[in-house]
Amino acid sequence: MKNIKNKLFSQEPVEIGPNSNYENYIMAIESSCDETACSIVKNGREVIANVVASQIKTHAQFGGVIPEIAAREHLDSINIVIEEAFRQAKENIGLNPEDITAFAGTVGPGLVGCLLVGLNAAKTLALTYDKPFIGVNHLNAHLCGNYIDTDLKPPFMALLVSGGHTQIIDVKSYSEQEIIGETVDDAVGEAYDKVARLIGLPYPGGPRLDKLAQEGSPFAYKLPEARVDGLNFSFSGLKTAVLRLVKSFEGKELPVNDICASFQETVSSTLLHKLKKALEESGYKQVVIAGGVAANSEIRKKIFNLQSEGYTVFAPPMKYCTDNAAMVASCAYFNTNTFDDINVEVFSRVK
Ligand code: KG4
Ligand code: ZN
Repeated sequence: MKNIKNKLFSQEPVEIGPNSNYENYIMAIESSCDETACSIVKNGREVIANVVASQIKTHAQFGGVIPEIAAREHLDSINIVIEEAFRQAKENIGLNPEDITAFAGTVGPGLVGCLLVGLNAAKTLALTYDKPFIGVNHLNAHLCGNYIDTDLKPPFMALLVSGGHTQIIDVKSYSEQEIIGETVDDAVGEAYDKVARLIGLPYPGGPRLDKLAQEGSPFAYKLPEARVDGLNFSFSGLKTAVLRLVKSFEGKELPVNDICASFQETVSSTLLHKLKKALEESGYKQVVIAGGVAANSEIRKKIFNLQSEGYTVFAPPMKYCTDNAAMVASCAYFNTNTFDDINVEVFSRVK
């Protein structure tokens, strides 16, 4: 439990977390990349309001996220998503802005200009309503997406797969976690997006590649599963192998569905093999997946199949896999490893 005191006027600390004697309503803002999001979550698990403004259409015309444009779009959307979250909370349970226990915002990692918009909005709300401010790490927040609407409790093994990260994390307690495996080059989401571009799919490539893969044969082409020590991953060799395969079809029609399915099969098998190794070594029986790529159909299927081997598997519903603010609110509540200094500054990379 956190006793947070960083308020402007009143000085008595506020109890936040699973051991608090009070109901906690945390409003969180997320703006680390290309979604402007605001949510209100009760006691870390029950979503009272959830709003996401996506910039996908804007960035699609450029084939990827343009940081300066993304920051400007956050500025256009930020007040709208906050007002809509307050409106939903009023409509759903009669909650007023003064009833919010604390305001939270993503501190990093992410695009600095984008993070600044959401973080400053969260700090301003905290100062305006004289409530505590909590800064949250975006990666920890992805893991906490699994606490929403579930009774998940640590310890568990987590596979975090996003556009920028691929990690196996030993979550020992709500606030104690150890990264025990990670990619030595490309992140899974990055590999998806790069391969999607190679075969001519528009941004965002990952979900589109996933869809086409479902129409193809996963064993049409044998692609290499990188051999990396321990629990680490490598995906750059796989990307090069797809490039070579695509080039071999020059002048001929590209079997897009089969290439997507074969790539997806290799990626999902690689992730499963390493995750199983981590589970066996730790003896844990609970496993969670998190991050934007946890929305992938084949990765979900393979990891949920672990249930037949006696594991309990958690994965957030699709809307809490990709960037959202409900996971940030949940993290502000559960994870004591947060920033409670209102002067905290944004950061672009994991320190
Ligand atoms: O977690 P996220 O929303 O943003 C980051 O923090 O990176 O993840 C975005 C990544 C992108 O690379 C996107 O292509 C990928 O998640 N992604 C998918 C799927 N849905 C999103 N990749 C594969 N299959 C999907 N269904
Ligand atoms: Zn993310």
